Amino acid sequence: MFPDAPITSVEDLRRLAARRVPRMFYDYVDCGSWTGATYRANEQGLAAIRLRQRVGIDISRRSLSGRMLGEDVAMPVALAPTGLAGMQWADGEILAARAAERFGVPFTLSTVSVCSIEDVAAHTSRPFWFQLYLMKDRAFMERLVARAHDAGCSALVLTMDLPVQGQRHLDIKNGLSTPPRPTLRNLVNLATKPRWCLNMARTQRRTFRNIVGHVEGVSDASSLAHWVSEQFDQTLSWEHVRWLRRLWDRKLIVKGIMDPEDARAAARAGVDAIVVSNHGGRQLDGAPSSISALPAIAEAVGARTEVLFDGGVRSGQDVLKALALGAGGVLIGRAFLYGLGAMGEAGVTRCLELIRRELDLTMALCGITDTADAARALLDAPAYSEPAARLAAPV
Ligand SMILES: Cc1cc2nc3c(=O)[nH]c(=O)nc-3n(C[C@H](O)[C@H](O)[C@H](O)COP(=O)(O)O)c2cc1C
Repeated sequence: MFPDAPITSVEDLRRLAARRVPRMFYDYVDCGSWTGATYRANEQGLAAIRLRQRVGIDISRRSLSGRMLGEDVAMPVALAPTGLAGMQWADGEILAARAAERFGVPFTLSTVSVCSIEDVAAHTSRPFWFQLYLMKDRAFMERLVARAHDAGCSALVLTMDLPVQGQRHLDIKNGLSTPPRPTLRNLVNLATKPRWCLNMARTQRRTFRNIVGHVEGVSDASSLAHWVSEQFDQTLSWEHVRWLRRLWDRKLIVKGIMDPEDARAAARAGVDAIVVSNHGGRQLDGAPSSISALPAIAEAVGARTEVLFDGGVRSGQDVLKALALGAGGVLIGRAFLYGLGAMGEAGVTRCLELIRRELDLTMALCGITDTADAARALLDAPAYSEPAARLAAPV
């Protein structure tokens, strides 16, 4: 790509981020667990779905706006919770939340973010969503929930698919830490990222600020990593979801559902929404693509519980495919992180614009004018479901 060529896809943002973000933080984003099979399957599963081209329909007036969790959205897309976004670009969570607010879509702040809940709230006016892990220190968790409530967060997202952490080879090899340790390898790499270093030198936000200073005995990042690995609670069950339901009086979402039975259990626990997700292929390597799990889950929960989806979404076409297969809304993780790492706030905005434009054009070429009309009928039947009679027909 020529350096001054216009950015026309999320892939362009990814390439730019790969050049601008220090290696260990770029690798942290662009990897899956173990062999990366599920990470790749997420994108491949979406790419394999074919759309039906329709013509002769007046598509001159189109609307992408809708509602997610009772909130008006410019398009049915939200920014997924991602740890360490503030290491892709200085103050990354604040910038991404601001871009989301200006665009008119929800932003989700991770527990393991760099900028704190209060910091993001102070720099935005649209209520954001806050993501939570179940931690053994329940008093700290209750304080986090109360802080999210005080900050005006409109939804709490409990992540269910990380009671233990899947192994990501690159993070281990890179010695991932926040801030990076001053090893020779890191220093050599940082020397090639002057923009990143300059921005990082100008901010105080360089560690897990939801946690450091809020938990006794955690004062630096190295003891924090230890604390996190010790804190994630492996007893996580639906009982804890019910407990959180009692504690939190606003919207409650559980994330990491890949099985219809689990989806029904979530609905019984009284959650408002579920996110069909395999954590972007970062947890159980060998799990199927999240798009292949979506239709059965959407059918299992019916209309009682809102069904959101994530995993592998890199374009507006991917969004439309997920909506057609039963999602009420779609979360994007890496797509916006690539934008953030490439160009900060402007890069997140660019990512959202690219997705919106592609969603809009694809709807037009598929003959629909409203995202609410996305349904199975938009998709071309896969070749293997050709009726036997047609396959056997004489030529
Ligand atoms: C770098 C990175 C960090 C993540 N951190 C979190 C997190 O802190 N909490 C969480 O629930 N999910 C986390 N996720 C998973 C995302 O919320 C989302 O499920 C996933 O990124 C969707 O796949 P995609 O990146 O292909 O869009 C993370 C994903 C990435 C790529």
